[in-house]
Amino acid sequence: MKLQPVSHVRGEVTIPGDKSISHRSVMFGSIAKGTTEIHNFLKGADCLSTISCFRHMGIEIETSEATVTVHGKGLRGLKAPDCILDCGNSGTTTRLISGILAPQNFDVILTGDESIQRRPMGRIMEPLSMMGAQIESIRENNCAPLKICGKPLTGIRYTSKVASAQVKSSILLAGLYADGETRVTEPQLSRNHTELMLQFFGADIRTENTTAIISPAAELYGNKIRVPGDISSAVYFVAAGLLLPNSEVLIKNVGINPTRAGLLTVCKNMGADITLLNESRDSSEPTADLLVRSSNLKGTVIEGAVIPAMIDELPTVALMACFAEGTTVIKDASELKVKESNRIAIMTENLKAMGADVTETGDGMIICGGRPLHGAVIDSHKDHRIAMTFAVAALAAEGETEILDADCVNISYPAFYEDLGRLCR
Ligand code: S3P
Repeated sequence: MKLQPVSHVRGEVTIPGDKSISHRSVMFGSIAKGTTEIHNFLKGADCLSTISCFRHMGIEIETSEATVTVHGKGLRGLKAPDCILDCGNSGTTTRLISGILAPQNFDVILTGDESIQRRPMGRIMEPLSMMGAQIESIRENNCAPLKICGKPLTGIRYTSKVASAQVKSSILLAGLYADGETRVTEPQLSRNHTELMLQFFGADIRTENTTAIISPAAELYGNKIRVPGDISSAVYFVAAGLLLPNSEVLIKNVGINPTRAGLLTVCKNMGADITLLNESRDSSEPTADLLVRSSNLKGTVIEGAVIPAMIDELPTVALMACFAEGTTVIKDASELKVKESNRIAIMTENLKAMGADVTETGDGMIICGGRPLHGAVIDSHKDHRIAMTFAVAALAAEGETEILDADCVNISYPAFYEDLGRLCR
């Protein structure tokens, strides 16, 4: 895809549903009793992978223009699939579903695309095995394909080395089926959508600082879910609105759960003009409209507890830092290396190709702002967040930019280029 610079962006955008919450609504709806009606479900490829996995396990899931309806069969209602479960490009599907599958009374094989087959699964294999699960990496490299043979589980106390909602959620879901309480402590709090939604579905789950504690459940009960817009998709419009002169963008109905909203804190530190309007709550998740205006940004240090609260937004914030006055340091972010691509290496390589002053570090990047960017050929490495970040970079650069494998945006935002294009008119 070839993109040209524009002078400004203006208008209103309603971004699609949150990817993390969409996945969970289908998964938890499938193992709950009764119907779960989901509004604003994200119909991106990742969440469709989740739907497909549960359909293969006998769950009826209806999709219409406005809603997804899951006819849940209860905690013990899944049946053995008659094929290998394909999680596509989705780490959330692979890791969360493993926690649900470990305690079933059947065996499964899980796999995914090339990227999924490179991503670390040892981080869920270890705690699930401690609970009594039989889970093995078929190639013995701690990656998918995984073979899971259902077994009865025991509750554990687990301290995770990484702040990862996928790890935490996998253990908590297994904990629903265990013979006693399960506790997961993480170094910093990662997104808590699992905790909020399991509680909404009737589970006995609570939080003490960075520890989530779940008791085994007799059943979960289906509920109506309204999925807020995804802040990880909103970030592209936030960046476009801030970086291009004479711009104003209203981004409607964005999820601003504090465990996800690190972006807003960092933008404020960088001097961004963002106003929150219409703050409200959807199915226990807070939301707001974001009014974003062009701003002169300044460099900042991004580190520590804010990192997990903006992990998927960091590539786009690295782009914003190229336009800021002074230096931005991103550290404590080595998790970026094990996302859909190595986002530290790929961001550094592509920003440099556009003329930016960026240095890759072991756990982040150092970005000296103020150098104008020029168009370049950008290899997205089929990573949706890289493609979308550089579509915004292209609007603010001089000359033409070409993005390779640009259609990978289908993973989380199928209508991304149309929505961005509308703001450029
Ligand atoms: C997610 C958690 C994060 C995030 C991913 C979605 C989730 O991953 O990067 O896009 O839905 O739980 P980690 O748990 O690996 O940090």
